[in-house]
Amino acid sequence: MNQFRLNEIVREDPRKAFEEAFEAGDELTEAMFTIERGAGAMVGRDGQRFTRMPRADLNADGEWTTHLPAREAGPVAQSCIACHAAPYGNGAGPNPMNGIVDPLHSGDPKKFLVRNTPHLFALGAVQRIAEEMTAELKAQEAGLGRSVCETGKSGSVSLVAKGVSFGILAASPALTPTPTPGNGNCVAAFDTGMVEGVDADLIIKMFGWKGAHASLRTFTRHAAHNELGMQAVELVGETDGDHDGVTNELTIGDLTALTIYMAALERPTSKLELAELGLMELGDGEAAEIRKGEALFAKAQCSSCHMPVLEVVDPMFREPSRQAGFFETTLPSGQTALEAGLLQDAAVTFDLTADSPNNHVVLANGDARNLGAFPKTASGGARIAWYSDFKRHDMGEKLADPVDVHGFGASVWPTRSLAGVGSTGPWLHNGNATTLHDAIIAHGGEAEASRSAYEALPTPDRQALVAFLENLILQDLDPK
Ligand code: HEC
Ligand code: HEC
Repeated sequence: MNQFRLNEIVREDPRKAFEEAFEAGDELTEAMFTIERGAGAMVGRDGQRFTRMPRADLNADGEWTTHLPAREAGPVAQSCIACHAAPYGNGAGPNPMNGIVDPLHSGDPKKFLVRNTPHLFALGAVQRIAEEMTAELKAQEAGLGRSVCETGKSGSVSLVAKGVSFGILAASPALTPTPTPGNGNCVAAFDTGMVEGVDADLIIKMFGWKGAHASLRTFTRHAAHNELGMQAVELVGETDGDHDGVTNELTIGDLTALTIYMAALERPTSKLELAELGLMELGDGEAAEIRKGEALFAKAQCSSCHMPVLEVVDPMFREPSRQAGFFETTLPSGQTALEAGLLQDAAVTFDLTADSPNNHVVLANGDARNLGAFPKTASGGARIAWYSDFKRHDMGEKLADPVDVHGFGASVWPTRSLAGVGSTGPWLHNGNATTLHDAIIAHGGEAEASRSAYEALPTPDRQALVAFLENLILQDLDPK
């Protein structure tokens, strides 16, 4: 996919640009990339091109340890859907597909991180929620900055985005030698010591279990490099960073297409929803048990972190994004967005509440529905049942990584979405939970009280709560 061509199509017919990008993204996630096309990397000098195990022991020039950018894992596979496959394409993965990651190049298996493969459905909703929450936090930061300079006094603000609290941001006025319009020589010196659940930059990052990436695009090129050995030109430019003799392995337009595709995939659904629409058989007893489990999910305070619904005000997904923190003015390759053809005013755009190309169904009464899209709110926004508060929490020792790679805590994770969780086992970041019950009882730290509340439930109530989770499914409704 050529980004400049895509930009021309956006200007002629935005709808067509979306459809073409989606189609190209579909092909790219399924494509079996060959070594000739750039898949794999020079692992060592013996000709090995793929590896399940990180190989920090191979550190001669051009080998595993010296690739650019620094390799964390693999390359393992020839296609995205080799791992993202269950219960169908773009889904989750079983334990044999786990990512085995050595970001610190320790070469020590005790320090390797293990990551289970999550599903890729409707990820545009995740980025839109994160963008809007980030905008709210940034506005509160800017407001505090203005007020400390106006009053000349220290101050603080309770950070809140979409009703979720992110602790307290404090600031005091400081002097700057370079005056700014409006503030003169005053600049706010921020103290982020009491900020909670988000980095000091106040950018909500939800991609990857650890939540190290804000945008779908940056995560995707990271995955393509690490899992497939497919190096995007926006990452390495003309350099053969993985020494496989191939350059320009994925174009700017390819990354745009992959991003649009995963962003616009159908949303997860539920057995209750499908039964109500006459698209699935569900006995009265089972439906009642799921409803009872939903009430218990709230009662055990699971919903304090796994917030059932968040709404986005503006349901338009844009690639490139308009939001600072989700858009790079300069790409890692050194090329500017403008040179690469990533233009905010020619973004490929679609509506989360209307445009998903998948899961269009006709009900028994003849009504056509797009069950791939999210429901609309009264004010034209999108209602996203994602079961997350988009905030990081300390989950206790049992859920700790062996090493703290990012510096915000080995046991700290953003609340994992439960959308589709009935279809994505095994569970937890390392795939260690073989049942939903196992996943729940591994919760500790900030979730200690909630886990105890679950454990204190009589067995039939615990079963109902699990039945509610099993009801949150991924379902391919397209007639083949
Ligand atoms: C070897 C198996 C494997 C392959 C191949 C693979 N992935 Fe993944 N994918 C994973 C794992 C494991 C994670 C979780 C990574 C983490 O938490 O850091 C993941 C996470 C993701 C996520 C983040 C999802 C979320 O909700 O946080 C995206 C997006 C993604 N992959 C896209 C892709 C794309 C696109 C490709 C092909 C270019 C691809 N993956 C290839 C295993 C794989
Ligand atoms: C303090 C916040 C918090 C509370 C409270 C909480 N969770 Fe979680 N939950 C998380 C986080 C964070 C993860 C990801 C942990 C990991 O993988 O290491 C998670 C993971 C899960 C998973 C696994 C998801 C997957 O895709 O593998 C399930 C299931 C789950 N939680 C259910 C529950 C239930 C049921 C409750 C109430 C009894 C609950 N959670 C309470 C934060 C919370």
